[in-house]
Amino acid sequence: MLAKMGVGNFNRTAGARLSEIEDQRWAEQNPAPHPGLLKLQHLSPSIGSVVSGVDLSKPATPMLVAALRHALLLRKVLFFHDQELSSEELMSFSQNFGELEIHPFSAAKEGYDEVLLIEHSRDNPGVENTYHSDVSWRWDPSLGSVLHCQETPEIGGDTIFVDMYAAFEGLPDRLKEQIRGRTAEHDWHFFRLLLQSNGLWSDEKIEEMQKKYPPQHHPVVRTHPETGRSLLYVNGPFTKQIDGMEWADSQQLLQQLFAHTASPEYQVRFKWQKGSVAFWDNRACQHYAISDYWPQRRVMERVTIRGDKPYYSGPRAKL
Ligand code: SIN
Repeated sequence: MLAKMGVGNFNRTAGARLSEIEDQRWAEQNPAPHPGLLKLQHLSPSIGSVVSGVDLSKPATPMLVAALRHALLLRKVLFFHDQELSSEELMSFSQNFGELEIHPFSAAKEGYDEVLLIEHSRDNPGVENTYHSDVSWRWDPSLGSVLHCQETPEIGGDTIFVDMYAAFEGLPDRLKEQIRGRTAEHDWHFFRLLLQSNGLWSDEKIEEMQKKYPPQHHPVVRTHPETGRSLLYVNGPFTKQIDGMEWADSQQLLQQLFAHTASPEYQVRFKWQKGSVAFWDNRACQHYAISDYWPQRRVMERVTIRGDKPYYSGPRAKL
């Protein structure tokens, strides 16, 4: 079946380039609201830029918020260095972009329900080393996250971000047509296995959370609610099955799409320093925290901004 769809003929080079061209088109139609306000250093052609000259601990002006929002939509992930931020300041900055959400399964910092403490060391190795889009098992997966580095290992612990517009553009046309309009089931089985294997949650508690967070069905190709562009929206830990397909066919297709997502052409890799911040558009990109530093320590604080229900509105007319 996949051979018929043309899988195996992914055009990665074109995917990254097409994404970049679409970025340029979007930027022509939606010019930066305050040109020159932000100094951006691009780290790859279509995804990831370092923003300099901004102090995130200070209250952001409406002009700065508008400029950052525009840059985020265009670059998918923004990086900042040398940010001395308290948890309150991290939250205040993030609230400029929407309401904050509380993660039901991951550990929060004591006294700060909205701040995830992502702390790894000898006894608690990293588990975020899968390509994923945060909380895609929610009805309304997050808009984005802001991650602040508290402590880095001496070497290693980078994070990879993937441009999911480019991943979509890099699929063969026949496969694009096959997956457009389809939905897939997303579920938090990754956390369930983790919580069960660590003996942290009883079966009753898991069942209670299962009722609270039932599986969700989201489009395999999603329309970005702000740019109107199509992107690939399936991820390894949370997407279980493509609706309406036999399990084996769905697995085969999903594995192909996951492998495709991991293509270096669609990625930017960020090297953290203490005080670095990454602000990503969780609708447009996936990320992978490289866990190559065990048994050293790596500590991050993450704040997550609430998003909305994914939808697909059909292919956008090309200019
Ligand atoms: C995450 O998956 O949100 C964590 C990313 C990281 O720690 O680099």
